Amino acid sequence: MISRLIEIVGRDHVLTGADQRAPYETDWTGRFRGCTDAVVRPGSVEEVAAVIDLCRLEGIALVAQGGNTGLVGGGVPLDRELVVSLLRLDTIDAIDINAHQVTVGAGVTISGLRAAADRAGLAYAVDFGARDSATIGGTIATNAGGINVLRYGGTREQVVGLQAVLGGGEVISRLQGLVKDNTGYHLPSLLCGSEGTLGIVTAARLRLIARHAHRVAALIGFATVDQAVTAVAGLRSGLDSLEAAEIMFADGMRLVCEAFGLAQPFRRPMPVYVLVEAADHHDPTDSLATSVGGIAGVLDVAVATDAARRAALWRYRDDHTLAINTLGPPHKLDVTLPISLLAEFVTSVPVIVAGVAPHARTWLFGHVGDGNIHVNLSGLDPDDDRADEAVLVYVGELGGSISAEHGIGTAKTRWLHLNRSPAEINTMRAIKQALDPAGILNPHVLLPAP
Ligand code: MLT
Ligand code: ZN
Repeated sequence: MISRLIEIVGRDHVLTGADQRAPYETDWTGRFRGCTDAVVRPGSVEEVAAVIDLCRLEGIALVAQGGNTGLVGGGVPLDRELVVSLLRLDTIDAIDINAHQVTVGAGVTISGLRAAADRAGLAYAVDFGARDSATIGGTIATNAGGINVLRYGGTREQVVGLQAVLGGGEVISRLQGLVKDNTGYHLPSLLCGSEGTLGIVTAARLRLIARHAHRVAALIGFATVDQAVTAVAGLRSGLDSLEAAEIMFADGMRLVCEAFGLAQPFRRPMPVYVLVEAADHHDPTDSLATSVGGIAGVLDVAVATDAARRAALWRYRDDHTLAINTLGPPHKLDVTLPISLLAEFVTSVPVIVAGVAPHARTWLFGHVGDGNIHVNLSGLDPDDDRADEAVLVYVGELGGSISAEHGIGTAKTRWLHLNRSPAEINTMRAIKQALDPAGILNPHVLLPAP
């Protein structure tokens, strides 16, 4: 098998040494650790197709991997699968200014694409903390969200077309960039969010957006979640340029400041922090100030207009992920709640976790504009998922989603039924069977074992 893989991609791109394989075998959090006999790094769609064809004929399961920034154990070889790394597919075609689109390889990073779009006077809408490592292919596979969903939607809204190799080895390609194209099932939408279970994305045609020359960020302190939610609703109504609205809490802020030696943003800690950013073709600072001035319950506010001070405010938010990881591999539960139940959820979750795992700590932060809270649990063994279950069952009872933006991966397959009916799960199984008849693509991801 190894020698046949070498025939396809070349000796340099089949990694078999333990040191070479190690970075591909453990996920970013350190919670999901597996092993593989080889990592194969195809350099073209033809090579991806040949690798899949070989695996199909030999009955060998594989896991597709981009920047390995996934958080739900969906991109590492937990059952000794072959790892197919897409990082070599890193071409960025010339930006199509007239169409506001670009075609890129699956291995291009979010930062790489954002920089290329910026040089052309445009922008790519999807952005989040792992931007320097996360790849376009991985973000499409997981339908990644991030900090700008509020204004531009998630990854699926940016995908105009895809090239991918399905489980049978067939290549499907629709990269012409036709915005209007009602010719049957929209396969790019189906593959987006399929977590590598239906096909491996090799390239994408993506929508670009206008680049805004002026930006302003503001960190606002509140006493309660309800006040924060009402404030964000008010900002959304009055401020078309609102791009992000993120929520943090006193304990998470303290952890970030202690972990990275940062000064607290305000003279005294706030129970709730909301970080907002607005971007426009003209300076949105006055509009933001007027809108914030009309909000009830503001305890304190810090405004940043220049890039350095905006980055300093964003560090408090982006570094939550890093700070929590300093406590050991966390359990990361990424959920959406009906917005009216957000305050109840934030109050109840630590109590629910303490009831099943008194030694665990609960850390909350997230994208409040989307009703998306990241529930992080520290102090738990990697395999002890009793607290995960308690939280996710509660989310289901509240009518929320057990995965807002990270995906189901291997971490949450056994709770998919909390959100999806038997009819839906059977439909998903039928689609999987049609597109990956040999069942070799990420076989333990998304769908629970029958
Ligand atoms: C974030 O919003 O920072 C990401 O989803 C990563 C995380 O949840 O840690
Ligand atoms: Zn997030």
